[in-house]
Amino acid sequence: MTAKKASTKRPAKKAPKKTAPKVKKQAEVCEIPTHGENFVTIYIMGSGYKVPEEATIMGAIEYAGYQIKRGAGCREGYCGACATIYRMPGDYKIYTGLACTTMVAEGMWLTQIPAHPAHKAIYDMDRITADVATIQKFYPEVFRCVACNTCSKACPQELEVMDYIQAAKRGDMEALMDISFDCLACGLCAIRCPAEIVQMNVALLGKRLYGKYLAPKSEHLEKRIREMKRGKYDREYKKLMTAEKEALSKLYYDRDMES
Ligand code: SF4
Ligand code: SF4
Ligand code: FES
Repeated sequence: MTAKKASTKRPAKKAPKKTAPKVKKQAEVCEIPTHGENFVTIYIMGSGYKVPEEATIMGAIEYAGYQIKRGAGCREGYCGACATIYRMPGDYKIYTGLACTTMVAEGMWLTQIPAHPAHKAIYDMDRITADVATIQKFYPEVFRCVACNTCSKACPQELEVMDYIQAAKRGDMEALMDISFDCLACGLCAIRCPAEIVQMNVALLGKRLYGKYLAPKSEHLEKRIREMKRGKYDREYKKLMTAEKEALSKLYYDRDMES
């Protein structure tokens, strides 16, 4: 696959809303009082609950009485904290999704995976090079990739994860950065990978290398940093620091947005 042109202005992509596949039914359900809405039965870590059919998995877990202490962050499909796996009755597949953007469905049987162990290399950005030798040194397991594409199928961001791992193998940092740009670091690809690769951390290394050594220098940014060092914005900064919450909120929402 050919990588799209990199853009320094690209906003992070929020995970799309997902609908689970429809299927049959099961038994042993905890009857939570309902209020005339439409309900489906789902199974959370083995226990059945009736929950509103319009709920996300995260909403349903809380509706069922669980308090989510880990495995929730932005609740909007940006942070990757709410990785979830589920199965549907009569279906052999393991499905993956984000609890905050995946809707419940009748018979869904799920568990959240709030954290999973992941190898993350330690390196000094000033002493490494933006080439394949660095990948070989810190993530040699990428060369064990068997090109099964399971990682891409597991990705809630619908990223071509296998393609960015292939880019890492070629030492193509621009493609690695670009294809993995919208990665939320949810880890769902890593738990499915037969080669035990932690794709998101390989992507992080690629993004860092691209940003430090290969990305075109931003003259505007350097100019702005010089201005800040000279104290050009000190007065404005002090004003912001003492502003009321409502005034800050108005400033934030009225600001010029990048298209
Ligand atoms: S690439 Fe992996 S870690 Fe990143 S969003 Fe997709 S599944 Fe999650
Ligand atoms: S799941 Fe692992 S082995 Fe399979 S294509 Fe993705 S990186 Fe390669
Ligand atoms: S809570 Fe942030 S992506 Fe779900």
